[in-house]
Amino acid sequence: MTEEELKSLAGQLRKPDGEHGVDVGNFMNAGNEALHINTLSFLNLEPDQTILEVGMGNGNLMSHVLGASPNCRYYGCDYSQLMVSESIKNNQELVDQGRLSFHHCHAHDMPIEKQHIDRLFSVNTIYFWENPSAILNEFKRVLKPNGILCLGMRPRRLMQHYDFVKYGFQMFESDDVKKLLAVNGFKQTEAYTVEEEDWVSDDQRFEVESLVVRAQI
Ligand SMILES: C[S@@+](CC[C@H](N)C(=O)[O-])C[C@H]1O[C@@H](n2cnc3c(N)ncnc32)[C@H](O)[C@@H]1O
Repeated sequence: MTEEELKSLAGQLRKPDGEHGVDVGNFMNAGNEALHINTLSFLNLEPDQTILEVGMGNGNLMSHVLGASPNCRYYGCDYSQLMVSESIKNNQELVDQGRLSFHHCHAHDMPIEKQHIDRLFSVNTIYFWENPSAILNEFKRVLKPNGILCLGMRPRRLMQHYDFVKYGFQMFESDDVKKLLAVNGFKQTEAYTVEEEDWVSDDQRFEVESLVVRAQI
């Protein structure tokens, strides 16, 4: 890939847009499904919960949430208008039934009532947070007392080998995230790592791991 292509890919991963953004949404599903499943596995999902996902991309991985929390009420928030439209299109029937809703907004200002959410999760978005405290304060506002937050990501140790990360990615290890959550008022912070299958691209093999950090308020 040329530097221009890498820069464009990094921009699309940050905020998918335009014709290429639709393809990037599908590419993310393929590469991130295991991390999505691993993140949900630490969220203690149960039937009938109210769940918020921040940065859901194109909403194509909804079956995992619905499988783990039958009858849940799900909100998805993303600041890419394209990803919100794709999510609605990909889940039209459930949106029409009022079980899912997708919102075009920034993570630091979401159209959700305070103390409304049982479980909040976000996968592969922390790299792009410009003001983590503003976002974590918003998460605290919408979570119910004892609500649970799970952040899913790739650790810096592995991500730093991807050529596109030099274009605007902040990378983290578990202790960085735990500290960030603690200074922003979250408690009982735990980090988990799960090995995934290697990713092979252009004859290069990359080790892949899910890092999930869970916290409560
Ligand atoms: C790399 S994609 C990850 C998509 C999906 N969660 C996955 O792991 O495949 C990041 C997504 O989060 C959204 N996003 C990033 N930062 C955000 C923010 N501060 N507020 C709302 N959405 C955000 C982007 O628009 C994009 O859809």
